Amino acid sequence: MALEFVRVGGGTAVRPIANFFLSMEKSGDVKFFHPHPITEEEAVKRCSYDGKDLYYVATNEGTVLAYGMLRGWDEGYAIPSLGIFVHQSARGTDLARAFMLFLHAAAKAHGAEKVMLKVYPQNLFAVRLYENVGYKFSEKVAGQLVGYVKLKTQGKAESRESRRDEPAIAPTVELKDKVKSAGEMSKKSESF
Ligand SMILES: CC(C)(COP(=O)(O)OP(=O)(O)OC[C@H]1O[C@@H](n2cnc3c(N)ncnc32)[C@H](O)[C@@H]1OP(=O)(O)O)[C@@H](O)C(=O)NCCC(=O)NCCS
Repeated sequence: MALEFVRVGGGTAVRPIANFFLSMEKSGDVKFFHPHPITEEEAVKRCSYDGKDLYYVATNEGTVLAYGMLRGWDEGYAIPSLGIFVHQSARGTDLARAFMLFLHAAAKAHGAEKVMLKVYPQNLFAVRLYENVGYKFSEKVAGQLVGYVKLKTQGKAESRESRRDEPAIAPTVELKDKVKSAGEMSKKSESF
């Protein structure tokens, strides 16, 4: 096993998600992240969820490192709202950026043209991360910046075809080797 993005819902094992929610709550960072209650009861709901919205975890060797979501389709919105939370042990490793790009690809595959998110301006890491992956902030609602990113509309092959003169070198995203091994992670986490 290695790093994986795994969809949550339709019968996902509850324990690893519930443990991750517990670690989120303990970190205190939920003051910046409150899309839904971060409780064991909510973990049970998420794991049996069956709808149009998308919930994912990033796992390494079965241990949950991050939780991310795209929501709004269930309520009839065309532009999903993104949320992300990375475990403290996996921050600064480029996992957040990789997860953001994965969520954008998932949104695109689901038919979205844009993704939106809200972030507290004092949440500097998050604001920086979002700006780095293309979000533009133009308004503030209830103390939070509201940002949008337009998803790419051209496939790589099509894009290359229309830019024949340019070298077709795909950028590589390399995860910095800082993600702790499963053994080093919280003893409370159970394998996924
Ligand atoms: C927001 C979050 C997902 C970012 O993950 P991360 O792993 O810390 O992200 P990164 O390491 O890519 O850091 C993001 C940016 O902040 C920068 N940064 C790091 N330390 C910083 C500091 N002390 N001051 C300002 N910026 C800093 C990083 O350099 C990076 O920018 P760069 O790529 O231009 O260098 C993570 O911190 C998190 O889960 N926080 C709690 C939940 C949350 O706030 N979610 C967002 C809700 S809107």
